[in-house]
Parts: sequence; structure tokens; C-alpha cells
Amino acid sequence: MSDTQFDQKPKQPKSGGPPILSCYDDLAASCAYGWSMLERGVKDRKSPFHTPSVATITASGSPTIRTIVLRGCDSQAKQLRFHTDTRSGKIAELQANPQGAMHFYDAGTKVQLRLGVRLEMLSGPDYDAAWAATRPMSRECYQVTQGPGSAIASPLDVAFDAEATQDGEAHFVPVRAHVETMEWLYLAARGHRRALFDFTQDTMDWLVP
Ligand SMILES: Cc1cc2nc3c(=O)[nH]c(=O)nc-3n(C[C@H](O)[C@H](O)[C@H](O)COP(=O)(O)O)c2cc1C
Repeated sequence: MSDTQFDQKPKQPKSGGPPILSCYDDLAASCAYGWSMLERGVKDRKSPFHTPSVATITASGSPTIRTIVLRGCDSQAKQLRFHTDTRSGKIAELQANPQGAMHFYDAGTKVQLRLGVRLEMLSGPDYDAAWAATRPMSRECYQVTQGPGSAIASPLDVAFDAEATQDGEAHFVPVRAHVETMEWLYLAARGHRRALFDFTQDTMDWLVP
């Protein structure tokens, strides 16, 4: 059984237990720590924040969720970025409703972040910079002639065509997530800490965990 139990009562940490984060009782520092974890998630492939989940709403009004790779983080502008295929379900969904959510959990620090985001497909210089930074292996994903999620008779029926897809650029799209809210949850033996940062209202509040 995991030693991380959400329902544990506040208690003094056992000697030798995990060190408490220095931002434990500091709202602004908790927010900054959350952003530092997001920044690290872009650079460190081994960070659990490298592969968060993004949720959108389907045409029928149901939530749907999937893993993506975190490609960019601008903590000043409160923006994240990921890359996807223009033909994917999430693109149709964000075009109909740009409001989404992102979820991150780091079992090492026991920090969960729940972000309320507005999703935007990038174009112009932002698009060009993102495409220029993609590696040949990543470009291959976008060279598939059938759209992702299309039904195929056999898994061998996936066809790649670099020329017809302009090396994959025809189907590539970077997506910016404008972070509107960040909910911080820090599980700690001496008492959990939960807080809500609303960047649209410029407010920060502690919440009951
Ligand atoms: C570890 C991991 C990383 C992934 N990264 C991405 C990604 O960066 N972009 C993407 O479009 N899909 C990525 N996927 C695939 C998505 O989870 C999803 O299956 C796919 O994008 C189709 O989603 P949709 O039909 O909801 O749009 C990743 C999956 C895993 C397991």
C-alpha cells in the first residue's frame, strides 16, 4: 500500500521522513514552486510533469482526457504548450470549446496540480518556431496519411507519406494552454496543503484539503 494516504490526519513527521517543502505554509511560494515544477517538466524527460493529462469536452458534452508531452512553459505569461495533429479529436473539441483542464502529479514530492486552461492553436511565428524545433522522429507521427483515430482493418494499414504531408507539417499544430487557474495540493504527513491561484482574478487562497 502506498504511504501516501489522502485521509491521513495531520501529525508530526517521523524522523527520517521526506523533508517538507520550504513553501509548505507560504501561498506565493507554493505557486512559484508549482511553476518551477512545470518548467522542469519541459526540460526533464524523467519528470512526471513531462507527460501530463489534458481534458477537453466532446461534442456530446462528455469529458475526455489523454496524455501529452509538455513542450513549453512560460511562467511569466502563465502559458504552457504541447504539440498535436490537426486531425485529432482534441483539436475538433478545443475548436468547439477552448476550455480544458490539465492534471499533473509528482509522486516524489506528492504534489498534484490541477489547471484550468484555455486552449489555443498557434499560427505564424509561434507555429514556425515550434515546427523548426521538432525532431525527425516526431515529424514522422504527422506523416501518416489517415487521421489519428481512423478505423483500419489491420495495424499494418497505417500509411506514411512525407511528400504529401510536407514532411508532416501539413498535420502538425502547436497548442498553447493559457493557464487561468492552478489548484495546488501538497500531501504531507504533518497536514496537507491545498490552495487555489486564479490568474484571471489575481487571487490566491488556501483551501481545505
Ligand atoms: C506518454 C504519452 C505521450 C503522448 N504525447 C502526445 C502528444 O504530445 N501529443 C499528442 O497529440 N498525443 C500524445 N499522446 C497520445 C494521446 O494520449 C492520445 O492518444 C492521442 O493524441 C489521441 O487523442 P485524441 O483523439 O483525444 O485527440 C501521448 C500518449 C502517451 C502515452
